[in-house]
Amino acid sequence: MFSKTSSHPSAAITIIILLLAISLSLSFSACKRGGGENGGSGGAGESGSSGGSSDSDPGDGGGAGTDTPGGAGDSADPEALWYYEEERAERYAAFAQIRPDLTMEDVVWMVDCDLDLPPYEDTHEVPDPNSLTLLVNKHFGLPQDYVPADLISVGSAQMRSESAAALNALISDAEGQGLGIWAQSGFRAYGIQQSLYNNYAATDGQAAADTYSARPGFSEHQTGLTVDLNDITDAFGQRPEGIWVKEHAWEYGFIIRYTEENQSITLYVREPWHLRYIGREHAEAMRDLGFTSFEEYWAKYIKHAPSAVG
Ligand code: DAL
Ligand code: ZN
Repeated sequence: MFSKTSSHPSAAITIIILLLAISLSLSFSACKRGGGENGGSGGAGESGSSGGSSDSDPGDGGGAGTDTPGGAGDSADPEALWYYEEERAERYAAFAQIRPDLTMEDVVWMVDCDLDLPPYEDTHEVPDPNSLTLLVNKHFGLPQDYVPADLISVGSAQMRSESAAALNALISDAEGQGLGIWAQSGFRAYGIQQSLYNNYAATDGQAAADTYSARPGFSEHQTGLTVDLNDITDAFGQRPEGIWVKEHAWEYGFIIRYTEENQSITLYVREPWHLRYIGREHAEAMRDLGFTSFEEYWAKYIKHAPSAVG
């Protein structure tokens, strides 16, 4: 079948997996022939998937594996699902069944990054906290004692050196346009995030806090690759500074991590002030692909293109 990885399950399990994989493959082809539109509504909802150009090639920028991003979008061939993981076949099938609104493409990448699981359940520690392209969210966390070794100051905040240099360039170019951008909050140690989250949960309740604050160990701020800009308000997104950042962040290797479009994936409300550094090549590739969530990019071009990891 169309796998990149191999396992050695028992014969019975192999047969079950193969049957599920065949069924997935047929559904996928039918989906694609039916128009290939992305899922739209409900629950873990709109995937924000591959809406963009199908002819750009992250392989050019991100050095991604063997396939081009256009591969999956342009073809009805299930082989195009280079990120399909045979050992997740049963989970793909189960998720497809409870989310008939999704294309098979979306089912596969979402399950690849555990989005079929409830947040904060069966979480994993990231394999390399120092990677520039690590995924940190409600499913993947950092070791409690992780502190990046290369933190430097940007204003009153701290960030890892490469992301700090990129932010300084962004700030300087914005200044050239008459726009004042500053770093309000960068690296946050586990204990700081714990205090923040606990305070929010005590004030607003845990369910509400979970929509805007990460639990300790699960905040991108602990990576040292993230920064909150200016006054950390929703209004920032509407001001000239926020509009400029939205348009130009990718040129400096940043993405706006939490947006209205990816809310159903990240399970956070929009934060137009929260930038995450992933490097220029990846930020540009993600933009060219029209991906709205880092989760989708990570599943398709980082997890399955290890050579592209920064
Ligand atoms: N506000 C973001 C989600 C954080 O706490 O990391
Ligand atoms: Zn933030």
